[in-house]
Amino acid sequence: MRVLGVETSCDETGVAVYDAAAGLLAHRLHTQVAMHQAYGGVVPELASRDHVRRLLPLVRAALAEADAAPASIDAVAYTAGPGLIGALLVGASFARALAYAWAKPAIGVHHLEGHLLAPLLEAQPPEFPFLALLVSGGHTMLVDVAGLGDYRVLGESLDDAAGEAFDKTAKLLGLPYPGGAALAALAERGRAGAYRFPRPMLDRPGLDFSFSGLKTAVRVALRDRVLDETDRADVARAFEDAVVDTLAEKCRRALRATGRERLVVAGGVGANRRLRERLGAVAEEYGASAHFPRPQFCTDNGAMIALAGCLRLERGAVRGPSVPARANWPLDEAGN
Ligand code: KG4
Ligand code: ZN
Repeated sequence: MRVLGVETSCDETGVAVYDAAAGLLAHRLHTQVAMHQAYGGVVPELASRDHVRRLLPLVRAALAEADAAPASIDAVAYTAGPGLIGALLVGASFARALAYAWAKPAIGVHHLEGHLLAPLLEAQPPEFPFLALLVSGGHTMLVDVAGLGDYRVLGESLDDAAGEAFDKTAKLLGLPYPGGAALAALAERGRAGAYRFPRPMLDRPGLDFSFSGLKTAVRVALRDRVLDETDRADVARAFEDAVVDTLAEKCRRALRATGRERLVVAGGVGANRRLRERLGAVAEEYGASAHFPRPQFCTDNGAMIALAGCLRLERGAVRGPSVPARANWPLDEAGN
């Protein structure tokens, strides 16, 4: 089984070829970050138009790198949602047209399923079942993953996603969009304990998250002050520590509640070094193994979609959503 994967849910055009026997054969990515930076966020129409321009050259390059003829591809998987509807429709139309021309099935994959399965691209892939912490720009959730397509959301953010909180706080610190990685780099130079921000919702039972108050706490701390470089690094460090502490405690609770022996961390914020270290230690506390995608596969990419499509193809679970693309698509409806 060999699957071409296409990801266009937001501002990354990702394309990859995954082979069930040989693994990942090729992956290509074009990021639109520079294009959206001037606007301080993703402009949906610009994103859609850029996906149109990028897809075909990226597919050609990926097929060439994989040394894969179109006839050797068994299916075309694409991100069918959730995401920006225009961007999704570009990928869906492209992938479905290609599949039609090649007389192969098109498989609509749930974007978050792609993230959840991304650690399976690595050398020591986790087996099912596992507990997953999904921390991206759009979502923060703890998911009990019993098997492919069998997902139970245990808790999620009631307001901002963790990545969104990183991006908004980065903006307060004057860092360019999307600021998550830049804030993390600044935090590396910060001193622990110089500032302290709240750990949202740790005083209550349950597995839900809330990050909008944390961002407000940073704003209040910065009000009417001129920060020097040391202060900015200290604030970044205190913010990162608050997010990492909160995510770590919720993971502890979820490991206790589920008894799962594997912890998977996925999504863009999963690239964060301090978070990876801490969650590795949390897993160890509970005798569980921790699994992370390489940082490049934490953020949006085509490899995770090709992989998810291949697993679905192998199991004949290729139904996807009832429409080619869905802006909103609950994860527990990702289907078997
Ligand atoms: O998974 P992703 O690429 O897109 C969504 O599906 O949302 O995640 C992007 C998010 C952004 O908010 C970005 O700032 C954040 O991941 N991010 C990071 C780091 N690298 C990316 N946040 C914290 N530390 C990082 N090193
Ligand atoms: Zn994503």
